[in-house]
Amino acid sequence: MEEIANRKSQIANLRTAVIGVGSLGQHHARNYAEIAASNETEFVGVCDSNEENARAVAEKNNCDYYTDWRELTDKVDAVSIVTPTETHAEIACAFLERGVNVLVEKPIARTLEEADLIIEAAENSGAKLMVGHLERFNPAMVALRPHVSQPLYFEIHRVSPFPNRSLDVDVVLDVMIHDLDAIQWLVDSKVSEIRAVGIPVISDKVDAANARIEFENGAVANITASRIGTEKIRKTRFYQTNGYVVLDYATKFASVTSLAPNAIHPLLGINVNRLEIEDVEPLRAEIEAFLDCVINDKTPPITAADGRRALELALGVLEKIEHHAARVFPKN
Ligand SMILES: NC(=O)c1ccc[n+]([C@@H]2O[C@H](COP(=O)([O-])OP(=O)(O)OC[C@H]3O[C@@H](n4cnc5c(N)ncnc54)[C@H](O)[C@@H]3O)[C@@H](O)[C@H]2O)c1
Repeated sequence: MEEIANRKSQIANLRTAVIGVGSLGQHHARNYAEIAASNETEFVGVCDSNEENARAVAEKNNCDYYTDWRELTDKVDAVSIVTPTETHAEIACAFLERGVNVLVEKPIARTLEEADLIIEAAENSGAKLMVGHLERFNPAMVALRPHVSQPLYFEIHRVSPFPNRSLDVDVVLDVMIHDLDAIQWLVDSKVSEIRAVGIPVISDKVDAANARIEFENGAVANITASRIGTEKIRKTRFYQTNGYVVLDYATKFASVTSLAPNAIHPLLGINVNRLEIEDVEPLRAEIEAFLDCVINDKTPPITAADGRRALELALGVLEKIEHHAARVFPKN
């Protein structure tokens, strides 16, 4: 009883922080600051090893700043970790081991071994661990999800102009992983085959890739991801029995096209259902879902197992890309 009472009193004023306030982390900070202003959480501060970044984001959000995350491990109850992927395991494990609840950005880690260390640290302490697969909170996906029923064939394009960030990982771990998570979530069957091709064009890592993923239930996804495009495209189209679905994460659009049940002729009975979208900021929804599972002791909507599964598939795609490259460019 005493333990529960303590837990409740601690949660009533949940102390939050963001580790890593670069291009994405600054938006985590803004959201935590806004949430703190409107309810019972307390936004303790931000941490960034780049002091200039840390100070600037702290000033904007009226909070303290730190340059060493170790100073925060005993000062907070919940953190977002938004540092480069190669640092996730060390930082996440340290917070989780102290019972601090963690929202770690995608990909959960660089390797499955690191992901397992993070998962083990959460299991040992009982702290909540959620992975930031943000697209699941895109309002277009939120509106679409109840309409998904046995998708069988996906065509997916995710293209962006060359970014000045996240170059520590390739395009598969950086952006294709969003779609790898989404298809596994929507298809809900085991992956049976992966084919892939990818190429470094501007950086020394794969900048553009295409993967064909086949599932045991027969579903197939064809995914193109590129970070050297001339425009931003984040489009998914898929076919399911009696339905053609369009999902545009960038413009927050979703529609389901189907044949009206009593149509006398296909051309007369096509029904395009443009779904109603509630225009919320996906990151706000993600952080609120994380805090909700901490405060109300719920299972995170995106579990560590989901994050690990997406990483495993991404690493599988990269392995196939390497095989393909070895065949096309054999070393002498
Ligand atoms: N969910 C999404 O849609 C999405 C989008 C972009 C990035 N991400 C993920 O977020 C993470 C960060 O990406 P980004 O684009 O913001 O990178 P970024 O390089 O812009 O920012 C990372 C920040 O972390 C800081 N940092 C590095 N090491 C640190 C350490 N040990 N302690 C404290 N601070 C440290 C850097 O100084 C930098 O300011 C990556 O894992 C990336 O994959 C997710």
